[in-house]
Amino acid sequence: MEDPWQKAYDFAVAVAKKAGEVQFLTFFIGEESVAKGEPCILTDKPTWIIDPVDGTTNFVHGFPFVAVSIAFAVNKQLEFGVVYSCLEDKMYKARKGKGAFCNDEPIQVSDVKDIHKSIISSEHGIDRSPEKVTKIFSTMQKILCIPVHGLRGSGTAATNMCLVATGAVEAFFEIGIHCWDIAAGAVIVQEAGGILLDVDGGPFDLMSQRMVSANNDVIAKRIIKEIEIFPSTRDDAP
Ligand code: IPD
Repeated sequence: MEDPWQKAYDFAVAVAKKAGEVQFLTFFIGEESVAKGEPCILTDKPTWIIDPVDGTTNFVHGFPFVAVSIAFAVNKQLEFGVVYSCLEDKMYKARKGKGAFCNDEPIQVSDVKDIHKSIISSEHGIDRSPEKVTKIFSTMQKILCIPVHGLRGSGTAATNMCLVATGAVEAFFEIGIHCWDIAAGAVIVQEAGGILLDVDGGPFDLMSQRMVSANNDVIAKRIIKEIEIFPSTRDDAP
């Protein structure tokens, strides 16, 4: 049977590559252009979920992790994801049910189940209200003191998720993250054998602004035990 979304997938890979090249020449209007406060509703229609510059702060400062993130959903299900880490020239991609790849080589999450042998990544996001920052750092402290091998954060959620997918880190989590930052990475992590959960251990919800991505549920659940949840809104909130 003809694969209905193959052309769209090939197109996304080509666009991600082109967008990565153009980033050296000009500033993209990214998700920052979405009018503040406008709801972002995912319907059953075929839908592109795009962040042209994931790692905007990195980009502005010349910190060398910036990604183009392109995902495609049909009937609210993610069909494929493409993340182009431009400065590393790494093209991550995955189609539902067909595996995950980096520069066309298959990738796989790590098989580590012992949290003490893990590297965990997270980000502090852009909200600097003292209550949230306190919870974020308290969570970080608790995870660090488990102890884990290390804590990391590249400054782009899409890249962090691809690092879960390659096995470089065991988990990435964040509260306050947007659907366009994580949609492509979500497909890539799952197709690399990893899992996605809500920060309370419930099912992953793309619009919820909360996510744990991990190599397996042992690591995910151990991290979830330490996460101090703070209120966040939803991308589809009216
Ligand atoms: C941000 C990055 C960052 C994450 C923020 C995102 P942007 O995306 O993914 O790692 O901590 O929550 O908003 O603004 O650079 O596209």
